Amino acid sequence: MAITEKEFQLMKDYLREHSGITLGDGKEYLLESRLTTLMVQNGCETFTDLHKMLQAGTEPLRVKVIDAMTTNETLWFRDDSFFSVFEKEIVPRLIKRASMGKVRIWSAACSTGQEPYSIAMLIDHALGRSPSVPNTRFEILATDLSPSAIFMATSARYSQLALSRGMRPDFKDRYFNENGLAYELDQKIRAMVTFKQFNLMDSFALLGKFDIILCRNVLIYFSDELKKSIYGKLSTSLLPDGMLALGSSESPRGITDALTSELLAKTAFYRPAQGSGGHSQLYGQRK
Ligand SMILES: C[S@@+](CC[C@H](N)C(=O)[O-])C[C@H]1O[C@@H](n2cnc3c(N)ncnc32)[C@H](O)[C@@H]1O
Repeated sequence: MAITEKEFQLMKDYLREHSGITLGDGKEYLLESRLTTLMVQNGCETFTDLHKMLQAGTEPLRVKVIDAMTTNETLWFRDDSFFSVFEKEIVPRLIKRASMGKVRIWSAACSTGQEPYSIAMLIDHALGRSPSVPNTRFEILATDLSPSAIFMATSARYSQLALSRGMRPDFKDRYFNENGLAYELDQKIRAMVTFKQFNLMDSFALLGKFDIILCRNVLIYFSDELKKSIYGKLSTSLLPDGMLALGSSESPRGITDALTSELLAKTAFYRPAQGSGGHSQLYGQRK
């Protein structure tokens, strides 16, 4: 269904307000290709009809439209160098902390589950060398705006094609069981992760504080103004010595003062800026 310039602006504003996703110029085709079926199903002949229906406040339609407009591209161990540092530098320190209490990790835009499950597998694998620390000491919260992505993540069943995108062969053998056309993730890993639908535009206050937050490859779709607000909320959701990981092309530099960077083996992690309190026994020297 073709979209006019005025309709593009209306839909663009609607999406930004409700999801943070900011469509750039020339992205009319995204709305046309992703929403046409939904429009037909809802009897909308034009994008103006759809916008009116959305404004009338029908919650299920809003959820479906936003779900259709999310880009859920992900893979296992996305970005080799990041996961290599995570495995070698962060996991041993988290295990040390877990020997004293709970460790909380948040995958803040988890898509279909590959990111939090990659983390859970790395931790479980490393725990094999520290059998005195049970994996129940690790709480991994995984959230996403998209209900269909959360549904798939919770099912923990992946196609051969999905597994071929980044899965380590040793982990495939160890953590997946073939069942018909799908590969099912081991219950032990599934139990480490709790999935929940959550919009990064909302308050983070009820989520508590985290040792590690991953917010990777999602804020690239947001305006600088929204990034600033979300970086601020992420900073206050970190424990004083907690760390934030962003996607390899992302940086809060020039957008917010709420975070300071620290390089671990050439990979940038971010901490709450000085003044947010904190100490540094766990993760090494603060700048
Ligand atoms: C490209 S995926 C990145 C997944 C994973 N973090 C990775 O790096 O592979 C971006 C995810 O962000 C989610 N997303 C977009 N806007 C969001 C919002 N306002 N709140 C929470 N999640 C959002 C999308 O549904 C999508 O699953």
